[in-house]
Amino acid sequence: MQNELITVMGATGNTGSEITKRLLAAGHRVRALGRSQDKLAELATSGAETAAGDATDKTFLTEAFRGSAAVYTLLPTDVTWADYHAEVGALGSVIVEAVRVAGVSHVVALSSLGADLPTGTGFLRSLHDQEQRWSALSETNVLLLRPGLFFESFHAALGMIEAEGVIADSLAPDLPIPMIAARDIAEVAATALAARDWTGTVVRELLGSRDLSYREATSILGAALGHEELPYIQFDYEAMTRALTAVGFSQNVANQHVAMTRAMNEGRVVSPRGRTPVNTTPTRFEDFAAELAEAHRRP
Ligand SMILES: NC(=O)c1ccc[n+]([C@@H]2O[C@H](COP(=O)([O-])OP(=O)(O)OC[C@H]3O[C@@H](n4cnc5c(N)ncnc54)[C@H](OP(=O)(O)O)[C@@H]3O)[C@@H](O)[C@H]2O)c1
Repeated sequence: MQNELITVMGATGNTGSEITKRLLAAGHRVRALGRSQDKLAELATSGAETAAGDATDKTFLTEAFRGSAAVYTLLPTDVTWADYHAEVGALGSVIVEAVRVAGVSHVVALSSLGADLPTGTGFLRSLHDQEQRWSALSETNVLLLRPGLFFESFHAALGMIEAEGVIADSLAPDLPIPMIAARDIAEVAATALAARDWTGTVVRELLGSRDLSYREATSILGAALGHEELPYIQFDYEAMTRALTAVGFSQNVANQHVAMTRAMNEGRVVSPRGRTPVNTTPTRFEDFAAELAEAHRRP
């Protein structure tokens, strides 16, 4: 099994890089995909085959997937898109079609908590639509991973902390949210890609070590970064839209973010099954915060 090729999309990103490292460390043959050969160079040095190209290019993606025993996929996004769902839907169709044409038997597809809902969830609607495309692919065994909010989303808050001394978003301050480290998703994905021990379409939720509110997460991050009283400020939806467009989001993508936070605030983005030992994963937000602070201190 170790000689069989495993291909990882988004290998320079949060989840893909961790999956690639784990598979290489376990002795698997890995093909790492991204858009830039330069950014893939480190993984090539670690022993991965690499291929650079855009996921809008069906020929590139089909050839990149060909010969793979298993593939990890995600839906890449761009905050400047004029029509988010049209762009991401087109990408999603290319990814599923490339898997079909390449004849890949097992796919681990990154989705999200909330992808069970068809509409009214902003960004998450595209992941629902992608799950539907995967489910229609009868020849392929697809493991749909539905994680909560990535800890790594807080990387984007560092600039705001430095410039404004706050973290701000449109999420209610005390809303409990399942939050997870990319490495915990990667652990599950890498294990599944190597084992290929499921049939049909299977959903797996991943909820992190515990639910955390934005107020709690801000306080933990503030303490790690030496900002003892770092406040979390809830913007109303209009103010949040304005804040996102001011930093380069298109109006349409800003709307998706705000619609997602509204769905979360209204209690619609939840685990249908609830937290269990199986969907609970080990890494604590405190560990992530300490590592982020350490990386931030390094020159
Ligand atoms: N953030 C959250 O809280 C959250 C929660 C649940 C689910 N998700 C899902 O997670 C996804 C992101 O996963 P991630 O954090 O692991 O990735 P990421 O860190 O955002 O990185 C994106 C990866 O995709 C590649 N990429 C970007 N655009 C591409 C394109 N047009 N064609 C081919 N490759 C492209 C990038 O490669 P290069 O830039 O090197 O070219 C990079 O490797 C989101 O899109 C969302 O669907 C996120």
